Amino acid sequence: MALVTTKEMFAKALKSDYAIGAFNVNNMEIIQGIVEAAKIEQSPLILQVSAGARKYAKPAYLTKLVEAAIIDTGLDIALHLDHGEDFEICKKCVDDGFTSVMIDGSKHPFEENIRITKEVVEYAHAHGAVVEAELGKLAGVEDDVKVDARSATFTDPDEAAEFVERTGVDSLAIAIGTSHGAYKFKGEPYLDYERLQKIHKLIPDTPLVLHGASTVLREFVDKCNQYGGNIPGAQGVPEEMIREACKYGICKVNIDTDLRLALTAEVRKFIAENPAEFDPRKFLGPGRDAIQAMVQHKIKNVLNASNTL
Ligand code: G3H
Ligand code: 13P
Ligand code: ZN
Repeated sequence: MALVTTKEMFAKALKSDYAIGAFNVNNMEIIQGIVEAAKIEQSPLILQVSAGARKYAKPAYLTKLVEAAIIDTGLDIALHLDHGEDFEICKKCVDDGFTSVMIDGSKHPFEENIRITKEVVEYAHAHGAVVEAELGKLAGVEDDVKVDARSATFTDPDEAAEFVERTGVDSLAIAIGTSHGAYKFKGEPYLDYERLQKIHKLIPDTPLVLHGASTVLREFVDKCNQYGGNIPGAQGVPEEMIREACKYGICKVNIDTDLRLALTAEVRKFIAENPAEFDPRKFLGPGRDAIQAMVQHKIKNVLNASNTL
């Protein structure tokens, strides 16, 4: 039981058709719900922390909570920085003991993305950590007028091969149609499997990463709305589409929104049904259980990763 890098878990996943869940963490209840699920399902696990999460919880708290989770569960866990904006935050996280960092240079031109990614790879590798980079842009749903227009921002397979070769990055996040948050598609959900297969064929030894992979299950949106929420027209990536992507080199699947919905639905329900209650444990406890159930569902039914330890 230790903080581990993603090296071994990715090497195993690459040879099979399951993927490892990378779940975003912001507080103790979220961490506890996720690790309990991974323990029951006997799945490898990546806990990821965004810049926003570090700001909300303060870095030391999250790192120490993850260390506590390792002691409590006996699991090996990879601690990963999600969407690192620049070299400085990546360096800070490596120095803080993260075993993996993402440098998200996707907003920069190709050469600049290569330059900053190389800089992070050099530092991280020298300190025993691994690096995820991103090439291509995850479209916002507002851009999704036509698939043609949207796919112009998807990852170019030849560029992906050149990028990996020149940066020495350990894994690559690609854009094939997903986007962050609860509003992913206006029309029919669409993932560019042909492009994914081309990328995987060109760089078969590089673990690929799918961001924006929440399914935004109707049941949880409806439950939030039933108890006073107002979440209109949300739409995620159908579960079978994620499962399919895991067959073509996708080794890491990022999920945050579905966890937020699961926890919020439960908290809203409890508060609506128990208006006289004011002990936070009474609603954060069921929120934690809802996270656990959601993560078990993802590991088992979407990522195909139960019993892969
Ligand atoms: O991709 C972003 C993750 O869902 C984290 O979101 O920046 O609000 O923590 P956040
Ligand atoms: P979702 O918003 O689809 O959960 O994606 C999360 C993510 O990609 C974090 O990096
Ligand atoms: Zn992301």
